[in-house]
Amino acid sequence: MFVKQFRTGGDRNFGYLVADETTKKAAIIDPSYSPEMIVEFARGRDYEIEYVFSTHDHFDHTNGNGVVARLTGKRALLFGMTDPETGVTVADGACFPLGNLEIQILHTPGHTNDGICIYVEDAVFTGDTLFVGKVGGTDLGPGAKAEYDSLHQKLFALPDNTRVFPGHDYGTAPESTIAHERETNPFFLQPDFEAFVHLKRNWEAYKKAHGIS
Ligand SMILES: [Fe+2]
Repeated sequence: MFVKQFRTGGDRNFGYLVADETTKKAAIIDPSYSPEMIVEFARGRDYEIEYVFSTHDHFDHTNGNGVVARLTGKRALLFGMTDPETGVTVADGACFPLGNLEIQILHTPGHTNDGICIYVEDAVFTGDTLFVGKVGGTDLGPGAKAEYDSLHQKLFALPDNTRVFPGHDYGTAPESTIAHERETNPFFLQPDFEAFVHLKRNWEAYKKAHGIS
């Protein structure tokens, strides 16, 4: 599997290209501010774009979808949408074939209700659900609870060596692994949901105290 991370601009946004090297079938995730750059890169490697996914419906992740659709003929798929070619709907557990690979959808509400993480082979693209050393912004009530459950039930159920590719470069490194996040992400070191919300409420002070930017 080929994975490339693109710094697309915006608020340290990341876009991604995932491809099966054997069949040259590829998918774009969150092209955001640099759709042309990602499509051109894909063309340079003779990849055929099969899908475009948006991890959630926030403008800084979806704003390149129109240009990608014009360049590739592929309309971006968000949670609840059905791919016209495979007939598969973007829902929890849905699988989209990508050459010899399989793209699996994990519904991870919290930051938004329509949040998805995209799991392919040994990589998971986490959008604004999980960042390196941080988690996505939510309210401190139902949104936080949904995110807490998504993180614990969906993301931390993945194998330890799963590579984590977030939607923004907010951490100390541009990518991580499930094991590394489980061991170091302050939001996972909290013993329960109440402590998780307490850290969210006091995140600015925690950052200052720990020198996190
Ligand atoms: Fe977002």
